[in-house]
Amino acid sequence: MRFQEVFIIKHVEQKNYISSRKERCNQKNMEKKKKFYITTPIYYPSGNPHIGHCYTTVACDTIARFKRMQGYDVMFLTGTDEHGMKIEQKAKDLGITPKEYVDPIVDNFKKLWKVMGISNDRFIRTTDDYHIKTVQSVFKKLYDKGYIYKGEYTGKYCTPCESFWTESQLDENGCCPDCHRPVIDAHEEAYFLKISDFADRIEKFLTETDYLTPKSRVNEMVNNFIKPGLEDLCVSRTSFTWGIPVTFDEKHVVYVWIDALTNYISALGYENDAYDDFDRYWPADMHMTAKEIVRFHSIVWIIMLMMLEIPLPKRLYGHGWINFNGQKMSKSVGNVIDPFILAERYGSDAVRYQIMRDMPFGSDSNFSNEIMINRINSDLANDLGNLVSRTVAMADKYFGGTLPTDREAEPLDNELIEMAKELCEKVSPMIEEARLSNALEEIFKVVSRANKYIDETEPWKLGKDESRKARLATVLYNLLETIRICSALLSPFMPATMPKVFEQIGAKAEDVEYDALGTFGKLPKDVTVKKGEVLFPRIDIEKEIDELNALLKPEKTIREDEDLEKANIINIDQFAEIKLRSGEVTACEKIPKAKKLLKLTVDDGRQGRQIVSGIAKWYKPEDLVGKKIVFVANLAPAKLCGELSEGMILACDAGEDDVRVLFLDKDVPNGSTIR
Ligand code: ME8
Repeated sequence: MRFQEVFIIKHVEQKNYISSRKERCNQKNMEKKKKFYITTPIYYPSGNPHIGHCYTTVACDTIARFKRMQGYDVMFLTGTDEHGMKIEQKAKDLGITPKEYVDPIVDNFKKLWKVMGISNDRFIRTTDDYHIKTVQSVFKKLYDKGYIYKGEYTGKYCTPCESFWTESQLDENGCCPDCHRPVIDAHEEAYFLKISDFADRIEKFLTETDYLTPKSRVNEMVNNFIKPGLEDLCVSRTSFTWGIPVTFDEKHVVYVWIDALTNYISALGYENDAYDDFDRYWPADMHMTAKEIVRFHSIVWIIMLMMLEIPLPKRLYGHGWINFNGQKMSKSVGNVIDPFILAERYGSDAVRYQIMRDMPFGSDSNFSNEIMINRINSDLANDLGNLVSRTVAMADKYFGGTLPTDREAEPLDNELIEMAKELCEKVSPMIEEARLSNALEEIFKVVSRANKYIDETEPWKLGKDESRKARLATVLYNLLETIRICSALLSPFMPATMPKVFEQIGAKAEDVEYDALGTFGKLPKDVTVKKGEVLFPRIDIEKEIDELNALLKPEKTIREDEDLEKANIINIDQFAEIKLRSGEVTACEKIPKAKKLLKLTVDDGRQGRQIVSGIAKWYKPEDLVGKKIVFVANLAPAKLCGELSEGMILACDAGEDDVRVLFLDKDVPNGSTIR
């Protein structure tokens, strides 16, 4: 009886053990099959990609690679947003079609993503047929449901940003609140999306879920856009044609933001036959954008999905900007750094590392060539590169590459081992939450601790003493294990270089799998290292800066200007249509509401005129009074921040952030023709 009982108990225990083990395995397999859908914004191909675009794409790529490492079935989407008035205008200026204009730029984006090691699973273009089909179908659905209605649009439009604004949303200068450039008046028949009905629901969604991070952005959205009253959004245009036609009213094209946001579902096959992944991957696990377009992704996009009764995405991370000289780096500001050149000189991983390391969660970061080079030298060449090369070189020198298996541990080892063992658990949630800079900081704390461990254990002294060989082997093994864990966790950040580290420290694929990272002691005791190339060569900063300065700016602007000039030849008659004349500035003052503008009173040899010019950053009013200038006399008058401007004075770009007005000799009569 007693034997029976014991047997039964044992049997039950064993069964429980087996089933819980099975369950765990099944669960793990399920985990492995779990999906993860991550998206970048789709970028405007209105100019070539710059470091700012790289940040979001590299950050998403890192998270996508990390989730793949964890066994997720990842869909990583990026692409280009190709419609809109701005692109139509640029193409027109060059005398080509909008598609001809965007095609080479889109190719450049694709080329850059290849250079930067981006592992996107799909690339969507809003000019793709399947996307057009989805947008048309979404627009019609919203119309049929009564969420889109016809009305008349009167308001403000910022052409560079493709954004409509109400009067109350403009900045203190009456300009676009995003880019602070003048807006234009817009009146036209248009369709509207009834987002006003959703104010309560969207506020509840943003304040009661973890969708929008960092949390500070929730307050921004609620206080700046929802609380002042959500106004219905104008979602069609008739004043240009480069867009997706509204199927039931073909003179309208769909507003670019409705077109663009829909990419996140059209790319999965929602309402089209090109793909069949919607049920698998939707809802998105993470959308990522910079802060200026969080409004569209947290309010407009969510309301559209609510209207369509589609499940809502799980997370939006609104990161800060990469600034250059205190201004957002962007094509139109003209302060672009060419990522192709940087990747070619330092390697894509070094560029990836610097932009991710220096962007604090939710805040802006500053970019300069000095910042990048210093970061590469200190973290990659000195800390990580040296750790790997010193460790591998010592294993090679003292043991011919293969460690002996005798060990001699000391209490001094424990701190490093504990830090390395806990690292994966510590950084995983950071990477998942897009706290990439924090994750890198944690990894590099362990790298630094390992370098300190070398100083503490002085392996070069151990190497000289035959009786300390077991101790030396222990020290080197601990270092190799630490490098294994750190480099595996760094591999989503620097996917081109870390496999070289794995090779040097003798790690096999299974040693650097995610599941192997919480364990210390994975490498075989008699691991064999292999000396390899220098991972991150040190850069001579002064020499490099000189070379970069010579290389980046002038060449680029000249090349671009030449392209533009060749494509846009005018004849002498066309030039003669522009009436340039001389004048004298008789008075000049600042415009209180507009930081960038000066108001000039100009004696033009006739009745006089007022000209508003955006040169306040470079000239004080007193610098201009009494000076002879050149102005465009037949430019259509315009109001800039409420002030009439009748013409434009000529000035030239005199460097990265410098502008000089063209002054004439004092004795030139006012009103003279310039030809
Ligand atoms: O807004 N710093 O496209 P876009 C950091 N087509 N990130 C930057 C940056 C900077 N200086 N400059 C650009 C659009 N970015 C729309 C999106 S989505 C449905 C439609 C990154 O080409 C950042 O992700 O102007 C920002 O949100 C995006 O590029 C804007 O790219």
